[in-house]
Amino acid sequence: MQKLFYLVLLVLLPLIFCVNNRPIIGILTEPNSHALDPLKGQYIAASYVKWIESSGGRAYPIKYDSTETEILDILSHVNGVLFPGGGVDLNEDPFKATIETIYNEVIKKNKEGTYFPLWGTCLGFEILSILASENSDLLSKVDAENLPLPLSKTQGWGDSRLMSGLTSELEQILTTENVTFNNHMYGVLTETFINSPKLDSFMRMISWNKGRKGNKFVSSFEGYQYPIYGVQFHPEKNLFEWGDEDIPHDYNAILITQYFGNFLVNEARKNDQHFENESTNNTMYKICPTYTEEEGFEQSYIWQYD
Ligand SMILES: *[C@@H]1O[C@H](CO)[C@@H](O)[C@H](O)[C@H]1NC(C)=O
Ligand SMILES: *[C@@H]1O[C@H](CO)[C@@H](O)[C@H](O)[C@H]1NC(C)=O
Ligand SMILES: *[C@@H]1O[C@H](CO)[C@@H](O)[C@H](O)[C@H]1NC(C)=O
Repeated sequence: MQKLFYLVLLVLLPLIFCVNNRPIIGILTEPNSHALDPLKGQYIAASYVKWIESSGGRAYPIKYDSTETEILDILSHVNGVLFPGGGVDLNEDPFKATIETIYNEVIKKNKEGTYFPLWGTCLGFEILSILASENSDLLSKVDAENLPLPLSKTQGWGDSRLMSGLTSELEQILTTENVTFNNHMYGVLTETFINSPKLDSFMRMISWNKGRKGNKFVSSFEGYQYPIYGVQFHPEKNLFEWGDEDIPHDYNAILITQYFGNFLVNEARKNDQHFENESTNNTMYKICPTYTEEEGFEQSYIWQYD
């Protein structure tokens, strides 16, 4: 009996002590899109920050024009990274170099036994696809702008970690109702995915969708071996963006948004890195977002170039 007690304790202790209930997720900035040009600089749409914050995490900016040393320093303190959506030329430095540095460091950390999640939304999903396949010509036109859809399951769905926490009610909503908001012209066709051995062996395809062109694109995936996740749709918009006409704001769509936010932040709780003197100085709370509805986001965090 006593032996059993110690055995159970031995198994449970690491689980209890490895939970970091103060997770901070780094979010990559992007050069301002054309619409934001008058404000010159780099930005993060505030909806990503709020999505993290409303799930029990905090956000930390990773400026895309940081040096490699600065990026590695940030990655040694935060508990995960989010590549947001947007519009960036992925072949141009310093953005290209930065996403590669982050991606390689995340894989290195996980290989070395430090659990470190990486999440990509929309453009972020496309970035993960390109990096994992090592093919920058991977994307095809799918015409899926302003398009809310339910997810279609692949064979990998049932084995995935990403969907494993869904209740049967949530799964029903996610697979039958127009709750995932797509807003992308390009995507990774399921056919392209299957014919890219590097991508197909690295990522588990979890769901697919059809754009207006009628071709099937991958709408979510996760790393088989690493806590790397990508969704082509925008879970953060349902809660926080009101500009695009067809963003679903109904009760069930909000439940789905919150499911994914909870999932990501909980992944970050499995990493116990921290800033040396933790204070809100180290998070987005010290920065004020700006009203940018005309630019397509209700609010944005903006850093102007000197
Ligand atoms: C969901 O979206 C599709 C594609 O736009 C549309 O055909 C369908 O009617 C929508 N379903 C509901 C229940 O709104
Ligand atoms: C953290 O706080 C300690 C004690 O106040 C101080 O000595 C140290 O320099 C601080 N470190 C950083 C990186 O601010
Ligand atoms: C946080 O910022 C304030 C104001 O800039 C500063 O006085 C304080 O020392 C900072 N704290 C840490 C831990 O860096």
